[in-house]
Amino acid sequence: MARGALISRFVAASVMGVMVLGGTAFAQPAGEAPSKQPEGAQPRRPRAQFGEGREGRGPSVEGAMKAMGRSLKALKGQIADANKKEENLSLVAAMEMACVNAKGGKPGGPAMKAAKTDAEKQELTAKFRAHLIHLGHALLDLESQVMEGKTDEAKASIEKIEKIRDEGHHLMGLDKEDEKGEKGGKGEKNEKGG
Ligand code: HEM
Repeated sequence: MARGALISRFVAASVMGVMVLGGTAFAQPAGEAPSKQPEGAQPRRPRAQFGEGREGRGPSVEGAMKAMGRSLKALKGQIADANKKEENLSLVAAMEMACVNAKGGKPGGPAMKAAKTDAEKQELTAKFRAHLIHLGHALLDLESQVMEGKTDEAKASIEKIEKIRDEGHHLMGLDKEDEKGEKGGKGEKNEKGG
């Protein structure tokens, strides 16, 4: 091959390399929101924040649960504060996203570990999802109530959400750990939101 042709091939390959590397360096990391969100937009990422899980893995139930616990705790302290309406709507939206992510993940916990056969595991996973669907409905109700300023109804919804949480945790064998003082499973006393 002529020397000129070799050089131009080398240059072309280098340019391609720079484009690829440059593209990776400047691209928005997958799933990350730009730093400025449009006003009124619902909260987004980083990925792990709502238990979305790492790239290539399924959603993290544990991460989603922790996220719900944090938001619930914050919500409980300020649900009646009309000045915090937008913040409360963001907190509810964060819980909705985490709830959907949890529903799509593989649950852990004592009851799952105790399930021996695949059929038992599948049955428990289906019940786990049903509880999270129930939770999702309650969260959407809460969102409407916050939006419409219906504080008393919103407070009642929060109580309902806590009941759904406790029933779900009972199903998954997590209340046994609660009795030992490890709310939510792994010493997340406060993040459980109660
Ligand atoms: C707002 C409602 C809820 C809150 C705030 C909440 C909070 C939590 C927290 C803080 C943990 C401990 C996470 C860790 O550190 O490991 C946890 C674990 C767990 N929760 Fe919930 N939870 C809620 C609803 C539910 C529901 C409805 C279910 C459905 C059955 C459920 C199933 C589980 C399971 C399976 C785990 C163990 C996670 C794992 O290791 O895979 N939770 N939850």
